[in-house]
Amino acid sequence: MTEKTATRKVGVIGTGLVGSSFAFALMIRGLATELVLIDANSDRAAGEEMDFNHGLSFTRPMKIMAGSYADLKGAHVVVIAAGAGQKAGETRLDLLSRNARIFRSIVPEVVKHNPDGILLIATNPVDILTYISLQESKLPPARVIGTGTILDTSRFRFVLGQYYDVDARSVHAYIVGEHGDSEIPLWSLANIGGVRLQEFAPLRNKRYDQGEMDRLFAGVRDAAYEIIKKKGATYYAIGLGLLSIVDSILGDYNSVLSVSTLMAGQYGVNDMCLSLPCVVGANGVQEILTLNLSSEEEKGFRGSAEKLKTTLESLQI
Ligand SMILES: NC(=O)c1ccc[n+]([C@@H]2O[C@H](COP(=O)([O-])OP(=O)(O)OC[C@H]3O[C@@H](n4cnc5c(N)ncnc54)[C@H](O)[C@@H]3O)[C@@H](O)[C@H]2O)c1
Repeated sequence: MTEKTATRKVGVIGTGLVGSSFAFALMIRGLATELVLIDANSDRAAGEEMDFNHGLSFTRPMKIMAGSYADLKGAHVVVIAAGAGQKAGETRLDLLSRNARIFRSIVPEVVKHNPDGILLIATNPVDILTYISLQESKLPPARVIGTGTILDTSRFRFVLGQYYDVDARSVHAYIVGEHGDSEIPLWSLANIGGVRLQEFAPLRNKRYDQGEMDRLFAGVRDAAYEIIKKKGATYYAIGLGLLSIVDSILGDYNSVLSVSTLMAGQYGVNDMCLSLPCVVGANGVQEILTLNLSSEEEKGFRGSAEKLKTTLESLQI
């Protein structure tokens, strides 16, 4: 197929702040040729369709439509960002129960009409909803991906880049585990251009200070709370995180990205979705990288998995 004829079709379910931020980024980058927008609030999806289409004379040609599940046929990847936000007085578990119910209605519909595509989950709690999507879809684990710690890793690289005054893209550092309070920064492997942070610090006239690093990480871990307090929700950065995963799927780039995927014995963890750096290509997760972690990091990873399992069990499916 020539580039001109190759169709690259993407679906978005839930065209709220996260779904539409992703869709807008996808449109600006011109990565897809077709985009299907679905929302329980059909006016919302129809309004986004109009607004995006009115920008097409400034971007690349693309077919954008608000549609139904049947319109997802042939989509390479379907992003799910549908879900309820937390209501006042509602516990996280109540929210999870509501979003789990929503996913149990959405996922079978997607697979019925588009059995060969990849599911990419953004709704929170993302690791548990990725696991539920895997169960509901019965797709191979490689084709059910959660955004996991892609955003946390990006925030981590940003703050380290800022602290050491280098481009965030030159910072090689990961956050793994749960996308949430039990996530783990991999200090033992963090480097800038291959130089460990301890050796990089003096190049920037700094003394490596683990206490300072821990404070930077706490800011990363708690960033969502702070942004939500200030402006109500976070959506642009996760929109770009989704874009980087979709880019690697559509282009079959085999990028290494920290995403949530089904564990199969990594550090003793089975039967739960959480994040490690993964090779992501046209068929989804091609490889889960097992890194040489410190014993504390390994312990943290297992603890993160335990926490997610306990939450899932308390959901009483
Ligand atoms: N993974 C991450 O790193 C990350 C980052 C930010 C936000 N999020 C999560 O993304 C989700 C969406 O956030 P948002 O700010 O876009 O919320 P939002 O309220 O702006 O949008 C959610 C949309 O989902 C739609 N929806 C609800 N039920 C549906 C259904 N059954 N079928 C189709 N559409 C349905 C709603 O109509 C709404 O338009 C939340 O769970 C949020 O916590 C994840």
